[in-house]
Amino acid sequence: MTSKRLWVSFVLAAVTLSITFSLQPDQQKVLLVSFDGFRWDYLYRVPTPHFHHVMKYGVHVKQVTNIFLTKTYPNHYTLVTGLFAENHGIVANDMFDPILNKSFSLGHMDIYDSEFWEEATPIWITNQRAGHTSGAAMWPGTDVKIHNSFPTHYLPYNESVSFEERVAKIIEWFTSKEPINLGLLYWEEPDDTAHDLGPDSPLMGPVISDVDRKLGYLIQMLKKAKLWDVLNLIITSDHGMTQCSEERIIELDQYLDKDNYVLVDQSPVAAILPKEGKFDEVYEALAHAHPNLTVYRREEIPERWHYRDNSRIQPIIAVADEGWYILRNKSDDFMLGNHGYDNELAEMHPIFLAHGPSFRENFTKEAMNSTDLYPLLCHLLNVTAMPHNGSLRSVQDLLSAAAPRAGPYGPYTQSPPLLQGRVPPGENEQEASYAYFLGVSLGSIIVIVFFIIFIKHLIRSQIPVLPDFQAEISQPLLQA
Ligand SMILES: *[C@@H]1O[C@H](CO)[C@@H](O)[C@H](O)[C@H]1NC(C)=O
Ligand SMILES: *[C@@H]1O[C@H](CO)[C@@H](O)[C@H](O)[C@H]1NC(C)=O
Ligand SMILES: *[C@@H]1O[C@H](CO)[C@@H](O)[C@H](O)[C@H]1NC(C)=O
Ligand SMILES: *[C@@H]1O[C@H](CO)[C@@H](O)[C@H](O)[C@H]1NC(C)=O
Ligand SMILES: *[C@@H]1O[C@H](CO)[C@@H](O)[C@H](O)[C@H]1NC(C)=O
Ligand SMILES: *[C@@H]1O[C@H](CO)[C@@H](O)[C@H](O)[C@H]1NC(C)=O
Ligand SMILES: *[C@@H]1O[C@H](CO)[C@@H](O)[C@H](O)[C@H]1NC(C)=O
Ligand SMILES: *[C@@H]1O[C@H](CO)[C@@H](O)[C@H](O)[C@H]1NC(C)=O
Ligand SMILES: [Zn+2]
Repeated sequence: MTSKRLWVSFVLAAVTLSITFSLQPDQQKVLLVSFDGFRWDYLYRVPTPHFHHVMKYGVHVKQVTNIFLTKTYPNHYTLVTGLFAENHGIVANDMFDPILNKSFSLGHMDIYDSEFWEEATPIWITNQRAGHTSGAAMWPGTDVKIHNSFPTHYLPYNESVSFEERVAKIIEWFTSKEPINLGLLYWEEPDDTAHDLGPDSPLMGPVISDVDRKLGYLIQMLKKAKLWDVLNLIITSDHGMTQCSEERIIELDQYLDKDNYVLVDQSPVAAILPKEGKFDEVYEALAHAHPNLTVYRREEIPERWHYRDNSRIQPIIAVADEGWYILRNKSDDFMLGNHGYDNELAEMHPIFLAHGPSFRENFTKEAMNSTDLYPLLCHLLNVTAMPHNGSLRSVQDLLSAAAPRAGPYGPYTQSPPLLQGRVPPGENEQEASYAYFLGVSLGSIIVIVFFIIFIKHLIRSQIPVLPDFQAEISQPLLQA
């Protein structure tokens, strides 16, 4: 009789534990969208009903601190790796690597050399290594072979391909026989036009409205494909934009001898490689040249930029104040809008919105770091994050699973990637897995203590009708 009761208790304990662990989310789909140069406050510039629809039924982060420098390639690579520029190696749109003796230039679309990208592993590769499939429509870097891989599906970069064609591909990949779980979609506006007109131009209004219409088109197509309710849509950008002026130009030719240095990257962060033996001469000539130009030796670059420890960062960098423009002389190209400035400046900050089954509804968060997107993506995709500089904990409140109903063991019960530890986790994730194991241990102790009391109670009271008792106990547990 006693052994039968013990057996029943054992079954109940097993049921309880399996219910607890089955609270893990289903396999999630994620579509990550970047509208290049979509500054955080463009949302309020003109009516943007589709962006506001996503905010109302999803989440919105008001201030996203992106990484220095606030340019397209460095920031897009951060979104998919969670690393600062000095760690992922894409330190600028235009680079020279003295060890490889090679150049990289977005201006000349000379970006296909794998070696520049391989200091990091982007999310699509990690996703594929975990047995999933990814699809990318023009996201920067997705048509480059990195660690011998491409995304499972991708479009070679071609700025003439329309937004509608890009969306059609993404939908096709999400609905194919072997559907992708990760989609990456990129659009060049509102960055392109804001460079030409300047962000303060009243003509930017219609450009922002057009991006909003494009988001509306994407939502409509996702609904038509029955993806809208099951897919997690994340909409963000790489950086913002600031107004420049021909009255705020710093001309290097006025201070430096052309023969003494190579200008690797120009504005607003001039990357200067002095010729052999010319370091001091170049540095002294520039250091106090202009009140709106701050000149750093590489080792003096402020810590908070995490922009020092990489040989692609040149020995001298000169950073212009917001809205100031660095040229060699006035025959160089000048643009009325630019970005790349200090990432602490609000005008450099992008948008961040998300909608889908994993996200809360109508939830606004004040601030996040753009490095935190990567661990969030890994969590949603159920893959183990590579070492990174973000923190899942900092953005966990965006997730519906983080709400109080997450269960008795706290939010980390629902973070399968935190469990695996195949790759050394980031600092914050160590805390997280510690919290997880603490939660599981406490939970197990509670369950065991509960059953000891339960068994004692059973033995003492000698309740004869076991099946009824079992039904009573197990039902509330099943609903937990
Ligand atoms: C997460 O991945 C692990 C293996 O890496 C797998 O066992 C588990 O079932 C996955 N969870 C979901 C919800 O897909
Ligand atoms: C670096 O490459 C250039 C050609 O791009 C070549 O002329 C030069 O000799 C190379 N320098 C070294 C140190 O190999
Ligand atoms: C780029 O796309 C346009 C429009 O779809 C097409 O006409 C053109 O041939 C493409 N260019 C290349 C190099 O594929
Ligand atoms: C440019 O320098 C002047 C003089 O130091 C300063 O007053 C001004 O604030 C600077 N401009 C910016 C945008 O920081
Ligand atoms: C401006 O700089 C470019 C590149 O160094 C040079 O070719 C050109 O001669 C310069 N123009 C003037 C007016 O100095
Ligand atoms: C969204 O939240 C705000 C306050 O945070 C509230 O005033 C508003 O009614 C909510 N809207 C919906 C649709 O729940
Ligand atoms: C961003 O990261 C820094 C450095 O890790 C941290 O101090 C700061 O609190 C983070 N900001 C947010 C909003 O999480
Ligand atoms: C960023 O992450 C990389 C990889 O884990 C690490 O090597 C680096 O020290 C981190 N940087 C900071 C400032 O924590
Ligand atoms: Zn740009």
